[in-house]
Amino acid sequence: MLTKSEFVKQILGPQSLMISEAITAFAPANIALVKYWGKRDSELNLPVTDSLSIDLGDLGTETSIEYSPDGRDYVILNGNVLDLNDPFAVKVINFIDLFRDAISNYRTGLVIITNNNIPTGAGVASSASGFAALTKTLDKYFDLRLTDRELSLLANLGSGSASRSIFKGFVYRHAGTDPDGMDSYSEPLPYTWPELKIGLITVSAKAKRVSSREGMERTVATSPLYKQWPQQVKEDMEKMLSAIKEKDFELLGSTAENNALAMHRCIQSSVPPINYFEPETVAIINKVQEQRKNGLPLYLTIDAGPNVKLLYLEQDEEKVKSQFPDMRVVNR
Ligand code: PMV
Repeated sequence: MLTKSEFVKQILGPQSLMISEAITAFAPANIALVKYWGKRDSELNLPVTDSLSIDLGDLGTETSIEYSPDGRDYVILNGNVLDLNDPFAVKVINFIDLFRDAISNYRTGLVIITNNNIPTGAGVASSASGFAALTKTLDKYFDLRLTDRELSLLANLGSGSASRSIFKGFVYRHAGTDPDGMDSYSEPLPYTWPELKIGLITVSAKAKRVSSREGMERTVATSPLYKQWPQQVKEDMEKMLSAIKEKDFELLGSTAENNALAMHRCIQSSVPPINYFEPETVAIINKVQEQRKNGLPLYLTIDAGPNVKLLYLEQDEEKVKSQFPDMRVVNR
């Protein structure tokens, strides 16, 4: 079993130090249509199951890295210089240290500038785009020339969903079985579906009450429903792949919605229970299901937070907007 540091060294190989000018990279946020919930290895952050996502287009994170003239590290998030004890700054520096350690113990300070155009910690997976953008920027800054698959393996050390944010479009994340995690990568699927639309409803932009790491640990350890989860994901993956290939919207929407609600049932049945929903989340779920009964092909998915993502086809956009005027349409 590898440590995080050994994992990074194995992927990077022997490196001589090459430092470039300030470097910037962008990665999109993504939402899982079949969710990842639960780790098979907590050190290497490896998932129990496969997952499948779609990117959120121009919503995501842009990260720049530049040399720090005074030798100290700086983490700047959305224009604010963070205290280095801030939890976000700690995560970023720990991640960067894995690279610095692998590159001949490179210890020079860096300035890391992160700009999210999605609310941080609002369940719209800014950690996914954040760590994917950071990994891409580190690759360019240190001129590592890693493959996309290697980038997806490394981004995963920051956040499981970040592995998928290396790519655009529909992305398949393999859980893998290798104890060293080298087969636990993401890859893009060769299908596009321009008429498939995503609408975001932000119920709350506050950071979530329980982190996904803690939520997953508690669910895996205590939820009586979790033992059915791997089989549910297996079946949902087959349905989702066939829905995407055949452009079967009802199958895509119903599978995504069932999968998300099943994940939340597992989470809610943890001991002590965790509930990521707000009353407004539940009201939106009811309204979506009611609209569907009235004939509107509309489905939803929800990550580890209160916010709802609507799934519909472009031809129904006006009808969906009239029911959910606060919805923000994702530009993909
Ligand atoms: O990437 P993490 O550790 O924040 O976990 C993501 C968990 C979900 O967003 C709920 C599901 C997923 O697959 O993105």
